[in-house]
Amino acid sequence: MIAQNTAKSLLSTNMPSQLRGLFFINIFPLFSQQMKKCTFSKIDENKDNKSSSWENGRSLEKGRTAIAFSLKNEVGGLVKALKLFQENHVNLVHIESRKSKRRGSEFEIFVDCDSGHEQLKELTELLRKGHPRSSHVFFVSDTEDIPWFPKKISDLDMCANRVLMYGLDLDADHPGFKDNVYRKRRKHFADLAMSYKHGEPIPHIEFTEEEVKTWGVVYRELNKLYPTHACREYLKNLPLLSKHCDCREDNIPQLEDVSHFLRERTGFIIRPVAGYLSPRDFLAGLAFRVFHCTQYVRHSSDPLYTPEPDTCHELLGHVPLLAEPSFAQFSQEIGLASLGASEESVQTLATCYFFTVEFGLCKQEGKMRAYGAGLLSSISELKHALSGNAKIMPFDPKVTCKQECIITTFQDVYFVSESFEEAKVKMREFAKTIKRPFTVRYNPYTHSVDVLKDTSSINSMVEDLRHELDIVGDALQRLNKHYAV
Ligand SMILES: [Fe+2]
Repeated sequence: MIAQNTAKSLLSTNMPSQLRGLFFINIFPLFSQQMKKCTFSKIDENKDNKSSSWENGRSLEKGRTAIAFSLKNEVGGLVKALKLFQENHVNLVHIESRKSKRRGSEFEIFVDCDSGHEQLKELTELLRKGHPRSSHVFFVSDTEDIPWFPKKISDLDMCANRVLMYGLDLDADHPGFKDNVYRKRRKHFADLAMSYKHGEPIPHIEFTEEEVKTWGVVYRELNKLYPTHACREYLKNLPLLSKHCDCREDNIPQLEDVSHFLRERTGFIIRPVAGYLSPRDFLAGLAFRVFHCTQYVRHSSDPLYTPEPDTCHELLGHVPLLAEPSFAQFSQEIGLASLGASEESVQTLATCYFFTVEFGLCKQEGKMRAYGAGLLSSISELKHALSGNAKIMPFDPKVTCKQECIITTFQDVYFVSESFEEAKVKMREFAKTIKRPFTVRYNPYTHSVDVLKDTSSINSMVEDLRHELDIVGDALQRLNKHYAV
């Protein structure tokens, strides 16, 4: 049924700008002209969705696509058409209808979908085949080939389970491959992570004696190296992890406690993950200050080696630096730059991430120090990287992004930055070269990303900045008065 409500209609004169730059599969020549004069009535499936595409005259949100089609005015016509969306797993976020100006017996339907370009191509074909007015089906998108990306933190539920490998899928050369008890345990961790949803507490784990023992070996050996090998920010935050999360040689911290600890320090939170995510999905989490963490422990046969990230790597390698505001900001900016970027661009960002967040070095008081989690959780590679024998180059994203990432042995080269601040400035400049017809800003109040793509969204950001500057002005004035400057 088409819910008509012209009194509540949201839009009448904004169509031309909305349709500017749209990509039509099957041009419907008069449609855009008619849109100037017409009013669509809104049928909103999801009233809480504040990013409704045509609301307040805003243009179609990037990352979304829309379909418009006409239907004969008959009972059940819309239901039949919408069933095709359901059958093709296309999520509708906004629907509008209007009486056709061309044919009085028809209605024209505009559907804004939270789905990709390719998925909708198939659907348009089905609509064409399934309805007598199919020649009027057309595909509207100002997203062209922009890949889908999460807009709000809970959208991570849609991509955090797309693990490339998990549970029983251990490689034949994995130390736990022939250990059925270990594989069963890994499956347990994988199942917990796969059923996790944003906002839920992270499941508490009763670690086995064997797991705690393995963790203890890693913890003890690494702690011998940290004073001479880890950067000062790491050394400052590691004791806080012990204090707030009970991180000890004989106790593996719970991810839920770690998540609370990080939230208070930098706003980062932890999300359990079953295994490797694709670079796109992993970096998307960083954009929302969400760090995907494995919860399983490496195989006990070789505590100083793991072919994949485990909880020792996450907790001892990543967490102390995620508690550092400048590092947290650096990590988030890589994530934000990846949203909606091409595969090629995501790959370059992932390589920069790899040689900084995982294997980065910095200079402090004239000495080389490690800040990368891959180094800070690997005794042999940490020693190697700072031995004086490793090849070290200045971090330059344009150069670094071309370096091969090695996961089976030591890196051929490590990249050094003067500070996180310097690395951040370089990454920021590099991010500007990434092809994307919009930029994004993280909104910490709603835990969502604002897509800055038109004057309206940019104006809104300017307003926020004005307010922030007012606060700075007020603070300076009070300071001046206080010191009678
Ligand atoms: Fe890592």
